[in-house]
Amino acid sequence: NTAKHPGRGAFVLFEGVDRCGKTTQSQRLVQHLKGKGVDAELWRFPDRFTAIGRMIDSYLTGETDTDDAAVHLLFSANRWEKREAMLAALRAGRTLIVDRYAYSGAAFTAAKNLPGLDLEWCKAPDKGLPAPDAVIFLAMTPEAAALRGGYGNERYEKEEMQREVARQFHLLADDRWQTVDAARSVEDVEAEVRRIAEDAVACCLEGAPLRVLWA
Ligand code: TMP
Repeated sequence: NTAKHPGRGAFVLFEGVDRCGKTTQSQRLVQHLKGKGVDAELWRFPDRFTAIGRMIDSYLTGETDTDDAAVHLLFSANRWEKREAMLAALRAGRTLIVDRYAYSGAAFTAAKNLPGLDLEWCKAPDKGLPAPDAVIFLAMTPEAAALRGGYGNERYEKEEMQREVARQFHLLADDRWQTVDAARSVEDVEAEVRRIAEDAVACCLEGAPLRVLWA
């Protein structure tokens, strides 16, 4: 009975290498969903506006150097500090379109290939966070991404690093993962993105349970 039990909102996550079009697609998707009457909101991680987020921002811009394990835990803590608000929004029926999350967290640190910081170690701090209902992986080679106006000056925006990040992302693909070829026109990518997101919104309205990550 949807009148008595309006379903929860969907958690739709965008992941991909830097410059793959995540930000554009996530913004367009929110506008599209709103236009269809869906209560939708755009979130992004890292959230640079919390105290932890400001530390992350200063690391990414090169202003500070932070131990790799410590900064990994800051990225994770930045998700944990948003957990209650995220759950409250989803329960209130709001659909969250999220630009990066724990998959980026694990992929970027594991891509550094540091002793002890393997993929399992990288995943551990995010275990138990709300899991996305769908992960839209915008697939693009780092070479193609680099051609798109080039990278900025932040810490990880180098082709070699991005190649390794892409490799780690592939190891993280799970049953929520949907690969979308992002090397096509914005409109073609968008059509596929809309279909995946609208499916997730419908499933959640019908009461699909919210799961937790990597339990
Ligand atoms: P952004 O460009 O989407 O704001 O992300 C900033 C950088 O931080 C990007 O290179 C990906 C990286 N990152 C991590 O290393 N760990 C994380 O947990 C997240 C969310 C992003």
